[in-house]
Amino acid sequence: MSANKNRRIVLVSRPEGEPKPAHFRLETADIPEPKEGQVLLRNLWLSLDPYMRGRMSAAKSYANPVEIGAAMVAGTVSEVVKSNRPEFVPGDIVLSYTTWSDYAISDGPDLRKLDPKLAPVQTALGVLGMPGMTAYTGMRNIGQPKSGETVAVAAAAGPVGSFVGQYAKLKGCRAVGIAGGADKCKYLVDELGFDAAIDHRDPDMPAKLAAACPKGIDVYFENVGGKVWDAVFPLLNDFARVPVCGIIAHYNDVAPPPGPDRTGMLMGAILRRRLTLRGFIVWDFQAQAGDFYREAGQWLREGRIKYREDVVNGLENAPEAFMGMLKGKNFGKLLVKIA
Ligand SMILES: NC(=O)c1ccc[n+]([C@@H]2O[C@H](COP(=O)([O-])OP(=O)(O)OC[C@H]3O[C@@H](n4cnc5c(N)ncnc54)[C@H](OP(=O)(O)O)[C@@H]3O)[C@@H](O)[C@H]2O)c1
Repeated sequence: MSANKNRRIVLVSRPEGEPKPAHFRLETADIPEPKEGQVLLRNLWLSLDPYMRGRMSAAKSYANPVEIGAAMVAGTVSEVVKSNRPEFVPGDIVLSYTTWSDYAISDGPDLRKLDPKLAPVQTALGVLGMPGMTAYTGMRNIGQPKSGETVAVAAAAGPVGSFVGQYAKLKGCRAVGIAGGADKCKYLVDELGFDAAIDHRDPDMPAKLAAACPKGIDVYFENVGGKVWDAVFPLLNDFARVPVCGIIAHYNDVAPPPGPDRTGMLMGAILRRRLTLRGFIVWDFQAQAGDFYREAGQWLREGRIKYREDVVNGLENAPEAFMGMLKGKNFGKLLVKIA
């Protein structure tokens, strides 16, 4: 990083299908000056998350797209460098929502001070941040797991899925994870205490999933869609709950998949088996943020929730890391260490 310049990564054009390096550009400009009421932040950690694929698209969604030529947005952990607000002083470490950049300006209200003595500050982007809260609120409000039930989750080695499976264990459930590759599956069982883990790339995945769920599935935390959903759906028990959190297998889709329209069959099964499928966005449950910080913080201190980080060094490597995440190359919460 140049001492007196600000690098940022901007969106050059909107991908059709998979994002490629040409969709991003690294630019250098002067470090911005904070105006009255603003603070200047130096980004230390940048969070890379699947939702960013949606921000690259102009399709209607729950949040506005990133404009062409603008810097990609992100959750960041940052250090206050200059402050024109009384509540912040240089040296404060804050959770912020800024951009893929070395420096950023904030108006202040969305900043949350972090105490490095309580937990490593970058956990505010993972297990103690948006992904952890997504898992916690989706399970608490929609999944509602009860002791003895079976909970299945895919993208299970990531920050959302790994929290979901461990939450299921805390509630006395059987936790079955679905992940890409033997290493991730081994980690789920050996280190996180899942009861079983299935590799979604295994051609026998549907049969192996059925064998791992002998009493069917009561809660399926949907992170993926695609062929995992096809394998899970026949196993859903009467009154099963499906928090629909993400469908990463479809984020690069440009057209509906070929094949017959199965909507009628799907709706019929939802009716007969009295299934609950509910989509949600983490901020729907913002009122439960206090509960989340208290409970998740305690579980973390007690070692009852564990987490793993995949750290990439250097802002310039963010696009490649982001593209890799959409293919499962990350193993744990994907973070870019900027400074
Ligand atoms: N609703 C909300 O508010 C909200 C908030 C946060 C996240 N989310 C969603 O939650 C999900 C997980 O997010 P995360 O941050 O924890 O991500 P993550 O697990 O760190 O990364 C995504 C993972 O998805 C898996 N994946 C990618 N393509 C796949 C495919 N075709 N089939 C099966 N698995 C595939 C890969 O893991 P494998 O190696 O295991 O394949 C990849 O590592 C995403 O769908 C995300 O959009 C939703």
